[in-house]
Amino acid sequence: MKRTTDDPLLLTPGPLTTAPETKQAMLHDWGSRDRSFIDATRRVREGLVEVSGGGEDFTAVPLQGSGTFAVEAMIGTFLPRDGKLLIVVNGAYGHRIAKICAYMQRACEVAETPEDTPPDIPAIAARLAADPEIGHVVVVHCETTSGILNPIEELAAAVAGQGRRLLIDAMSAFGAIPLDLAKVPCDAVAASSNKCFEGVPGMGFVLCRTSALTAAAGNAHSLSLDLHDQWAAMEGNGQWRFTPPTHVVFAFEAALRAHAAEGGVAGRFKRYSENCRILVDGMRALGFEPLLSHNLQAPIIVTFRMPSDPAFAFADFYDRLKDRGYVIYPGKLTVADSFRIGCIGHLDGDDMRGALAAVEETLREMGVASGAP
Ligand SMILES: Cc1ncc(COP(=O)(O)O)c(C=O)c1O
Repeated sequence: MKRTTDDPLLLTPGPLTTAPETKQAMLHDWGSRDRSFIDATRRVREGLVEVSGGGEDFTAVPLQGSGTFAVEAMIGTFLPRDGKLLIVVNGAYGHRIAKICAYMQRACEVAETPEDTPPDIPAIAARLAADPEIGHVVVVHCETTSGILNPIEELAAAVAGQGRRLLIDAMSAFGAIPLDLAKVPCDAVAASSNKCFEGVPGMGFVLCRTSALTAAAGNAHSLSLDLHDQWAAMEGNGQWRFTPPTHVVFAFEAALRAHAAEGGVAGRFKRYSENCRILVDGMRALGFEPLLSHNLQAPIIVTFRMPSDPAFAFADFYDRLKDRGYVIYPGKLTVADSFRIGCIGHLDGDDMRGALAAVEETLREMGVASGAP
């Protein structure tokens, strides 16, 4: 991969290592009410709808802030104030949605499975059948807590089968894991600039079914997180309501061009899958054990169980890898002591092999015989 800096590579779930063209796209200043920025916003919105496959039925609403802002805006806008949400949980980001509902005092229930276990779809369908008050269901596509890929098509079909509306937090999946909005029945999908599109942080966005967004006018609990108001303003004059992240939008436009040039979602899925395969095979060869079996693992981020060798200390391992040019990520599991290594960002197979060589050297230096848990 082409690089113009010697920054350490980010093997994390984002912010990520970005391409030189993406960084270069930020080397200007733009007026937020100027035509050049208004046009860039339009191109980014159109580009997102194109990637989603949602066609005329969907609109992209960008929002200032991180991914959580977009998720909170999606829940607050689409869930009626007197509505009830079923949250499908198998990790920290599902739990965060429950916390969001508590803050905004919206009724919710949780359908939880352990962090290494997919949702129980028949149980969810039965729960919907038994409780007519639940009008909406929300699920995390790739639960970044573990890296598990949740079965979005099957869940969407079950939710639609019960006549309910689906919202998706696809933060760490959208752009790399196939999700065709022409085929997966849902009202909204939230994601952000600094994940699989490989942009820089600062902008969330929600792909919204326009008819559902129109019907959601007046639901929002918060002015700045009102997706309907943000959309109505953008449709009106092309502008953001409040100070926009101008540089982030131009970087995102460059990142979208690179995404298309790589073959869109299919191209990115292929590179990340190869990164993931190289990583898992190489780490296994050093004794490390991934938490998830291959069929549950999304090619986004891999959780490894903490080695049991007494010479292994994660903080030391982390620092020594960083000194060698690779930044990894701590674990977020509640069920097991773990750490994570990401496969996403402007990284290819050679970068993953470089990271594996650094891991091997680091283990030797630390006197760790094996990465086995
Ligand atoms: C699935 C998922 N949802 C939500 C978020 C929150 O995003 P942010 O940290 O940008 O607020 C993340 C972040 O990694 C995520 O992976």
